[in-house]
Amino acid sequence: MTAPPNQQRNQPPIDLLCGWPNPALLPAPNLLRSATTVFTTPSIANPALGYGPDEGYEPLRAHVAQWLGAFYQPCDPISSGRICITGGASQNLACVMAVFTDPVYTRGVWMVDPTYHLAGRIMDDAGFAGRIRGVPEDEEGIDLAFLASGLRAAEEKAHAEGNTEPKFKPPRPWRKIYKYIIYAVPTFANPSTKIMSLDHRERLVRLARQYDALLVTDDVYDFLQWSAIPGGKLAAPEHACLPRLVDVDRYLDGGPVDEWGHAISNGSFSKLLGPGARTGWAEASEKVAYGLSQVGSSRSGGAPSQLCSTIIDQLLPSGFLNTYIQQTLQPAYAKRYHTLLGAIQEDLVPLGVMVASPSETIAGGYFIWITLPPPLLAADIVQRAQQEENLRLAPGTLFEAGSPQPPSDRFAGCLRLCFAWEEPRHLTEGVRRLARVLKHALV
Ligand SMILES: Cc1ncc(COP(=O)(O)O)c(C=O)c1O
Repeated sequence: MTAPPNQQRNQPPIDLLCGWPNPALLPAPNLLRSATTVFTTPSIANPALGYGPDEGYEPLRAHVAQWLGAFYQPCDPISSGRICITGGASQNLACVMAVFTDPVYTRGVWMVDPTYHLAGRIMDDAGFAGRIRGVPEDEEGIDLAFLASGLRAAEEKAHAEGNTEPKFKPPRPWRKIYKYIIYAVPTFANPSTKIMSLDHRERLVRLARQYDALLVTDDVYDFLQWSAIPGGKLAAPEHACLPRLVDVDRYLDGGPVDEWGHAISNGSFSKLLGPGARTGWAEASEKVAYGLSQVGSSRSGGAPSQLCSTIIDQLLPSGFLNTYIQQTLQPAYAKRYHTLLGAIQEDLVPLGVMVASPSETIAGGYFIWITLPPPLLAADIVQRAQQEENLRLAPGTLFEAGSPQPPSDRFAGCLRLCFAWEEPRHLTEGVRRLARVLKHALV
């Protein structure tokens, strides 16, 4: 076989797989100023360098509660008691699993499919390997009929087996063991960027209440939103486009069915200020937020990320974080998104590629999810792109919930393209390279 034209060309790498923020989008000078304030103010430096409270640095809890209240506008104000400071969404997912599940009584984990792939390992660690099931994502974000029938069957099985109480987790006043975990990224999902409709959010909360499931949502992209129309403006970029499941659980049908509730929101500063901060927050009922703070690793010395919490906290009361999101991040990501989408439409759509567009009015998150023209397979294209064009891509199979072996073919024709890591001009060039790979593969 003759070598493809660009195989010999010494091209710099372009990475559309990496789901990290480009360092230029992180506010290093402001973090430096905050850190200086922290270290030069003994009343902050002392708690900053010590072990903190289990629930996290109190000023940050209060400021996060206020900040989230202004963005999500829930039915009632958010108290700081509903906030637990975390080591970021991933670390906290592990803590949620440690506190609120029992490897036997908790019958299984449901993940909206395709799913954020790195969450699967955390479920494995908690004892759910082989018991992770995917719930197909439909046009409204989740196939509820599929989930309901799966939950019904799992419940019947549990009754038949006499699985009626936690086996490995003794009762503790700060925790409740849930029967199921349902994991989703309802807004600007990773990888599909879909937005779960309000109707499906409400029906999902009802299902969770019916089957005593804990809904765990990574709400990590909610602030990164912009108009789906190039050059357009969102009517209210300072407000969330939809309530989180944790907000829905507060108002739906008269409010939570018990003092624990059935939803927990996993938030993170990773995509806003820098993943290296490893700092985030969880919001849930006060009972669940407190229970989370009692996870063994926090009882041993206090919440994670205490020092970073004090630094980040300097950025909230001044309004810097909001200004940064609205004036820097939203326009910068909007530009990257529209650059990537425009290039896809120009160079890939004519080759038969299809683009998932979650909404005609709003876009957000980090990714664009595309489907290749049959019979092309993502695994093959990913390999060719690396070899022929020094281009890194994420194949759809990576995002199958439950990591079936061998992978099924559900997402075999899909690719996830990230626009957060590369500079805009590299996004255009990356798509040109991908177009060459596709043309070569289609011959
Ligand atoms: C859905 C989702 N959850 C969690 C994370 C990681 O968050 P953190 O850095 O706070 O652990 C990511 C990052 O890519 C993500 O896409």
